[in-house]
Amino acid sequence: MNEYIAIETSPSLQGTVDLAGAKNAILVIMASLILTRGKSTLSNVPYSEDVLHMIRLLESLGAQVVHDEETKTLTVDTSSISSVHIGPDIMKKMRASILVLGPLLARFGKADVALPGGCVLGMRPIDYHIKSFAKMGATFTQSNDLLHAQANSLKAIDHILAYPSVGATENIMMAAVLAKGSTRIINAAIEPEVLDLVEVLRKMGARIELEAPATIIIEGVSSLESINHHVMYDRLEAGTLILAAAITGGGIALPTAPAASMTVFLSLLEEMGHEVTFGLQGQGIFFKATSHPRAVSFKTMPYPGFPTDLQAPMMAALCLASGTSVIHETVYENRLVHVRELQKMGAQIVIDGQTATVVGVDELYGAAVIASDIRAGAALLIAGLAAHGQTTMTGVHHIKRGYDGIVPKLAALRGRISAHYDEC
Ligand code: UD1
Repeated sequence: MNEYIAIETSPSLQGTVDLAGAKNAILVIMASLILTRGKSTLSNVPYSEDVLHMIRLLESLGAQVVHDEETKTLTVDTSSISSVHIGPDIMKKMRASILVLGPLLARFGKADVALPGGCVLGMRPIDYHIKSFAKMGATFTQSNDLLHAQANSLKAIDHILAYPSVGATENIMMAAVLAKGSTRIINAAIEPEVLDLVEVLRKMGARIELEAPATIIIEGVSSLESINHHVMYDRLEAGTLILAAAITGGGIALPTAPAASMTVFLSLLEEMGHEVTFGLQGQGIFFKATSHPRAVSFKTMPYPGFPTDLQAPMMAALCLASGTSVIHETVYENRLVHVRELQKMGAQIVIDGQTATVVGVDELYGAAVIASDIRAGAALLIAGLAAHGQTTMTGVHHIKRGYDGIVPKLAALRGRISAHYDEC
């Protein structure tokens, strides 16, 4: 079936949006439940294909999962997990499935998993994960696409990450919470989603401390309890919706946005000339676009720097800003694929290695474009709202993987956008 999203030139977006739970927090939190024996309840669970894949993954291990889409609640009983095997049909659906390796090794001392799939953003190796587990005493053998891991007991050691990888930090933490002794992760990722996982693990009974600037210290405990947790709101969905409002010259309120974790992004919007007002205690954003946005330059960085996941959406908004923006992607080596699609819509962008130079134009034009990953898709939706004529975007499975109802949310804000696909 040919699935696509159709977008027409839209009036300025206006209204209030309820954000979903964070995609990058929910998946790892679901994986972390493997560490416990019992029934845990997660609320504010976003509805997306990746969440459905993770449900299937947990069920394939033997967990009992009840998903209530109405109340956005997920109940996971992990006491019945009996398998440590995950085949390619599930693993290849998303890269985040590698996050079950740490919990499986910690609880069962073994795991038998296919190599993961997910968005194609350059090479995306999992060498930090594997090397770290090997240093903790795990042994690995690989046959075809299957990775067999074995560890009679995991050792608590110091891990020095060459790069603050989000997934490696999370996986090591989940392996270390049940390892006897003291583990340190030095140069750890401290993304807000990593900190949501820290909160979950602490609720389970794990002993975790953070030491500035980016060290995580874990004292192993012998067992962990099941939990109740409200998943943090999605800062990347918030950023995407704000940029959609920005490109249409609109004004929107996001009362649940985790504004305190979005300061670098929001300060760039102010530099463009937009108006950003924070709610109380770091939560909530009220955004009002300028009608004459200015170009800004930035590079993507690990948190608290500019998030790579908002690079493509921000680039879309900068296509119509006055002046020249220079955007340097430092996190991934292949995350400028959306440039070709934005060019089809009339954007003036030149790529040199990992750097894109965007010269603002007066108008974009609707075109038939293809989303190559989740955030590239978001960028094209944003550009389509301001483009003259109709944009049709295919590759919508990426959007379904990572966003919970972004099309109806944009439509409710007056976006002229419609989804032509079956809901997942
Ligand atoms: C997570 C997010 C993703 C986001 C990314 C960076 C989830 C589900 N996904 O992905 O949306 O774009 O963080 O903020 O949370 N690397 C290695 N070896 C490794 C691991 C990573 O070289 O073993 C490299 C990667 O190729 C990449 C960089 O480190 O260039 C960052 O990757 P990482 O932080 O691990 O991203 P993910 O956890 O996969």
